[in-house]
Order: sequence, then structure tokens, then C-alpha cells
Amino acid sequence: MEKTKVLYEGKAKIMYETDEPGKLIVYFKDDATAGNGAKKGTIEGKGSINNEMSAFFFKMLKDHGINSHFVEKINDREMVVKSLDMIALEVIVRNVAAGSLAKRLGFPEGTPLKTPVLEYCYKNDELGDPIVNRYHIMVLDVASVNELDEIEHISFSVNQILSNFLRSKNINLIDFKLEFGRDENGKIVLADEISPDNCRFWDITTNEKLDKDRFRRDMGGVEEAYQEMLKRVTA
Ligand code: ADP
Ligand code: TMP
Repeated sequence: MEKTKVLYEGKAKIMYETDEPGKLIVYFKDDATAGNGAKKGTIEGKGSINNEMSAFFFKMLKDHGINSHFVEKINDREMVVKSLDMIALEVIVRNVAAGSLAKRLGFPEGTPLKTPVLEYCYKNDELGDPIVNRYHIMVLDVASVNELDEIEHISFSVNQILSNFLRSKNINLIDFKLEFGRDENGKIVLADEISPDNCRFWDITTNEKLDKDRFRRDMGGVEEAYQEMLKRVTA
């Protein structure tokens, strides 16, 4: 398979068209941004770690009956995925208050939530990815009610599977962000990546943060945290 042209270069990945119709190659970069691009930097080795961890989680989810865009990992920094008609939503699932939810609801970070919370953000850089509800999504014409039902069902299943697995690695899955697209038959398919860039992972014993918050909050030990997470996940 050959790359033919850049379809899209985002903040963390480059999506290439290929000579195989319906297949893309994703290149995972070391570039990191936070605050909708306000803070920029590099996390050395991140691209390789996020590629490997995403491939690992997508395979694990497939074993549990959850389809994703993942086809195969072809080298250190690249994977082949199915090209999808992306839905312009970030789907966030939270088990413990942290980040923007802690601020919005006035909960101290680390407060366990009575029930997992699902939020949608409208993926739109100019608007700063605003939080939206089902009604906003209807008027924006981004997804149908049936599609949102399917997205929520898959998202909560992913939460169960990942939380259980990570608990066995002494990691608390605090929250995470997913993206979805439609395949050629209009079926909802999990896409993008699952990595320390878009999940909060805390050590269960020490509450140490092992994710991108170390970059967002200038905590240091960023590369080490990504390496530690990959080691635990794949051990
Ligand atoms: P961003 O666009 O937020 O800067 P990235 O750098 O991660 O993010 O770029 C990857 C882009 O590719 C995202 O916009 C994401 O929605 C999109 N994408 C992810 N998976 C697929 C897929 N299977 N088909 C088409 N686009 C995808
Ligand atoms: P938040 O607390 O900043 O809203 O983030 C919730 C989760 O979603 C956290 O795991 C980080 C992830 N996330 C992304 O992956 N991309 C984003 O643009 C945002 C805002 C959050």
C-alpha cells in the first residue's frame, strides 16, 4: 500500500489517502497542543506510543465485539484505517470529576461520579469545540437521534471494557474522548485514537497522572508518563 496524498494534517496526526480505495494511513506525530492550540510543544516518542497503544486498544475492543476503523499497524508511527465520513463530535465519558467538568460543576478533582457522565463537544476549532447537547446536535444537523443512541451505547461499552482492563494494571480510567464516523453502509464506527492524549489515566495507588495533563499543566515527566502507560498496558 502506498500513500498518495495528504488528506488532512491535524494537530496530532496526518491522514494520508492511499492507492487502496476506502483505506487511509494515519501518521502519529510527536506534536502536542493544549487549550485548542494555545499551547504548543513536542512530546518525544509520543507518536510511536500513541500508535502502539491505539492499535492495542482497538484490537482488544474488537475481541469484545466493538468495531473500529483500525485495520493494521504497519510501522512504528503508522496504522491503516478505514476511511470514514467523520461525525463532528467529541464524545467524552467520565467516571471521576477532573478537568473541565470539575471546574464547571465545582467538584474537587478526583471526586468519583455517581454514574458515568457522557458529554458531547461540537468539533469546530473556530468556536473552540463548545459543549453541546442532543438538541444542539439536531439543529446543527451533525447526527441523528438513532446515531446518537448507537454512539452512546458503544461509548459506555468502551468505558466498561477499558475500565476493567486498566484496573488490572492498577490504572483508574478517569475520563476519555472518542470520535466516530459512518462507514460506506452508514454504520457507526469508532475512529481516531485511544491514547494518553485523549484519556485521563491515574495510578490507583498514588493518583499519579499518567497522561497528557502532565503536558497541559506543565507538571514535567511527560515522556516518562507515556512510556509507563504503554509498558503497563502491553505488559
Ligand atoms: P485534530 O483534527 O483535532 O487536529 P488530529 O491531529 O488527531 O486531530 O487529526 C486527525 C483527524 O482525522 C481528526 O480530525 C479526526 O476526526 C480525523 N479522523 C480520525 N479517524 C478518521 C477516519 N477513520 N477517517 C477519516 N478521518 C478520520
Ligand atoms: P476536559 O476535562 O478538558 O473536558 O477533557 C475530558 C477528556 O477528554 C480528557 O480525557 C481529555 C479529552 N479531550 C480530548 O481528547 N480532546 C479535547 O479537545 C478535549 C477538550 C478533551
